[in-house]
This record gives sequence, C-alpha cells and structure tokens, in this order.
Amino acid sequence: MAEHVRSISLTVNGDDVHETAEPRTSLVDFLRERLGLTGSHVGCEQGVCGACTVRLDGVTVRGCLVLAVQCAGSRVDTIERVSDTGEIADLQEAFVRRNALQCGFCTPGMLLTAQELLSQGSVPSREDIRAHLCGNYCRCTGYQAIVDAVEAVARARMGPRASRQLPGERAVDNTRRENESASSPPPAAGGSARLSGPGEGGSASAYTESPSSDAPLPPHPGSPAAIPPSPFRGGWSTPRAPSLHLDKKARTGRPRSEGAP
Ligand code: FES
Ligand code: FES
Repeated sequence: MAEHVRSISLTVNGDDVHETAEPRTSLVDFLRERLGLTGSHVGCEQGVCGACTVRLDGVTVRGCLVLAVQCAGSRVDTIERVSDTGEIADLQEAFVRRNALQCGFCTPGMLLTAQELLSQGSVPSREDIRAHLCGNYCRCTGYQAIVDAVEAVARARMGPRASRQLPGERAVDNTRRENESASSPPPAAGGSARLSGPGEGGSASAYTESPSSDAPLPPHPGSPAAIPPSPFRGGWSTPRAPSLHLDKKARTGRPRSEGAP
C-alpha cells in the first residue's frame, strides 16, 4: 500500500465497508468513485450548492467538505438507501407531482435536506422550509415548486393535526404572502416565471413566493394562455391593409394603343 493511502472502515448504507483512501479524498468522491454510489452529485466542490449532501451519523453534511478518512467508524447514508427504504417515497412523489425537479441534479441533496427538516415532526412554515433549503441550489426548477412539495408532504404527514389553524392564521399567512409577492421583482422580460434562488441573494430571502397557495395558479409561461397575442395569430385588431385594385393599365403600363411618347 502506498504510504499516503489510508485504510478506513465505515458503514455505508448499512453495509460494512473496508477500503483505502487518500487523505485528500472527499467523502463524495469516495462514495462515487470507490463505491459506485453516484446518487450524490458533485457541483461546486466548495460547500455552496448542496448537490453532494449525504447523511453522516444521521446528520446531513456536505460530502465535498468531509474527507473520507474522517468518516472512519461512522455511518454514512446516501440518497440510494434513503430512497430504497421508502423513507422519502412521499417526498419523491410530491416532487414529481408538483414539478419540483427537472434535470434532477440538485434533487438528491434537496430531498435529503427536506427530509431532515420534516423528520422534526411538525409542519414547518414556508419561511422555515426556505431557510432550511437555502443551502441547496437548483438551477432548473425554481424554488416555489420545491417549497410547495415539501409543505404538502409536511401537512400530509401530520394528517388532521396539520389542518388545525389558529383563528386568523390563514389571514396572516395570506397577508404575508401578498407582501412577499409585492416586494418580489417582476419576471424578466419574456415572461419567464423562473424564480430566483439563494445563488443570487446568498440567503433564503432570495426565494420568491406566490401571493397565495389558494389563488388560482398563473398560466405556465410556456402555455398558450401566457403568450401575448401577436398579429401573426390574429390577436391584434389591426385593420387589414386595403387590397390593391390595380386596373389593367396600372398593371401593364401604358396601353400599346397609346403608342410611344
Ligand atoms: Fe458540495 Fe456543492 S458539491 S456543496
Ligand atoms: Fe436541475 Fe434542480 S432540477 S438543478
């Protein structure tokens, strides 16, 4: 064995693992390259994006900021195990149902982080959800749908207890959402409804929120209803240009009978 390589023993997804790793190897690289567990992704490699999130002794950590040799004797759980055991089946289904993923690159980390919050056993507020997920970046979906999915699962898991609201709680909730909506920048020109994430603002406050979950959803930016009318589809009431009625003389020039000038 090369001098710089260390032997490590740890438990990964319930299995005892005895492997070697260089001291500089990160946990996520060890999982992906030595153990073939590629569900944890590598994005920024500096602890910012959350794509590499795994559980270390029951707590979510950045796999890119932990060295594999530091995990000797520890228990590591990746998205593969958490998914295979059915622990987050409802969360996964909610993500699909609410379009909370597109390319899926962020999704394993997003699911593990959301599950960590939901396992606390209460219905978190939408602010709490956004704050807890603010270290997980998504560059496709927009955070609104992700927060919707997590909130829906939190309420479903709590059952009837989740529907008990204090008097006025709904009104306060709606007022807050309206205020958040009013302070949110309008969508960029072109009508995209993509929402800003923590990457632009560096904090959970960069998430934007819809006015109210009770209000009818606006049309999807790609749907026909969201596209402004255009004259090419008969949407504008521009009067038709008068048709040209050219008489034979105008079309053919001077009649031959008039002869040359
Ligand atoms: Fe670890 Fe981005 S790859 S936080
Ligand atoms: Fe693509 Fe989140 S679904 S980065």
